[in-house]
Amino acid sequence: MSAGGDTGLRERLEEAGQGHLARALDGLEGEARDRLRAEIEALDLALIRRLVDGLVGDDDHGVAGEIAPPDPAGVIALPRGPEDEERDRRAREAGEALLREGGVAAVLLAGGQGTRLGYDGPKGLYPFAPLTGRTLFSHHAAKIAALRARYGGALPWYVLTSPANDAPTRAAFEENDHYGLAPESVRLVVQGTLPAVDAASGEILRDAPDHLALSPDGHGGLLSALASSGALEEMSREGIRTIFTFQVDNPLARVCRPELLGHHVLAGADMASVVVRKLTAEEKMGVIARVDGRTAVVEYSDLPDALAQQRDAEGALVYWAGSIAVHCIEVDFARRLTEGGLRLPYHHALKKVPHLDADGRRVEPGAPNAVKFETFLFDALPSADRTVTVEAAREDEFSPIKNAEGSDSPATARRDLNRLHARWLEAAGVPVPRDSGGEPVDVEIDPRVALEGPDLAGALPPGFAVTGPTVIP
Ligand code: UD1
Repeated sequence: MSAGGDTGLRERLEEAGQGHLARALDGLEGEARDRLRAEIEALDLALIRRLVDGLVGDDDHGVAGEIAPPDPAGVIALPRGPEDEERDRRAREAGEALLREGGVAAVLLAGGQGTRLGYDGPKGLYPFAPLTGRTLFSHHAAKIAALRARYGGALPWYVLTSPANDAPTRAAFEENDHYGLAPESVRLVVQGTLPAVDAASGEILRDAPDHLALSPDGHGGLLSALASSGALEEMSREGIRTIFTFQVDNPLARVCRPELLGHHVLAGADMASVVVRKLTAEEKMGVIARVDGRTAVVEYSDLPDALAQQRDAEGALVYWAGSIAVHCIEVDFARRLTEGGLRLPYHHALKKVPHLDADGRRVEPGAPNAVKFETFLFDALPSADRTVTVEAAREDEFSPIKNAEGSDSPATARRDLNRLHARWLEAAGVPVPRDSGGEPVDVEIDPRVALEGPDLAGALPPGFAVTGPTVIP
């Protein structure tokens, strides 16, 4: 690049309060300098200035607005009788019609870093299945294949990655023949990044001489990534009306569940969310609530403890509606949210970020030293004209893999998927041996054999029995 170009960059950096990066460039030459310059040029310096001015040093992570419990009229509760069953049957029909006409795209959020699990690589490559060792990607892909086979609609599958895990994710999809799906029907979209800044000075950190300390811009970045990659336009062209989103870490996710799609369509909603009852006030789930009268997810870290603990006359949690991070989003709504820049609020968090100090020495901080910024997909809810919240049975739809051990770990997810499969088999008339504690033996059912319990009845050979650990097929 010409010296003139560097001068322009220097001025822009000084203006944005990031002059130290111009000096960092001066200390480099050749390819290292080119690499750092490319990263700096990709930054949205005006946005970073706004974030640093508005959020750094602001220790109030709470929600700006009055938090109230979810509007019962906007929540479709679990069925309690024949009327509700009829309601869900109609929704299922509407959802199945949408799937048949190819009106849905499935979007898997897989751009996160999986730090808590301690797994080195994209979380989707975690081999979670007890008997086959199948990975989360392979398991979710089998559901997509089963849905396509059942409904005949195109159902394109978008997978959100981030710069940190895009290459290994892409390689895995290639090596595994896209898990049996047509390669053009699986589309990887890379989300953006934002730099970590020093918590005191607001200066952007470097984690190597030629590299900024960048991390994914949060799953709200899905919307910008879909817009900037042309995917939203592609969806509109292909007649797709509704985006179904789910998280890579939940093997129980009911991908494109027709009842949910149907409730979303019948309500004329811009955005739908699935909730389960929180197990405890402390459970780390965002809750569906109202903020200043509008539907919103209040993230667990933002819900004041007094509200999280609040109980009604029957002793049930008032903020009970834990979001399992499954949503339906209208494509037109996503387009409105991204036209002229992403319209989502930014969250900030204090983190420990290894970095270079002013003298270029690497620092491994013992305490939080930096601020990271993110947007969250669920923050689109308050902008929706209409939303609907659908309650699901936890044991059927939610058991995430977040931690290496304890709750929300591979062990609990395996156990819960296994219990679910055992219940399906027993409902189909196949007894499943259980240990003295009542836990069923390991049974693994391929989603292509049964996406949901009732599918099993027609899929098993006559006289099928489970006598020990069993993989179906
Ligand atoms: C998340 C939700 C929480 C919800 C819970 C249910 C957030 C902020 N919180 O908590 O409200 O109750 O799940 O399991 O989402 N991801 C990206 N890009 C990113 C960041 C994350 O694709 O930049 C993906 C991850 O790959 C993962 C998902 O988003 O699939 C969840 O992210 P994570 O940060 O682990 O959120 P949780 O704290 O688990």
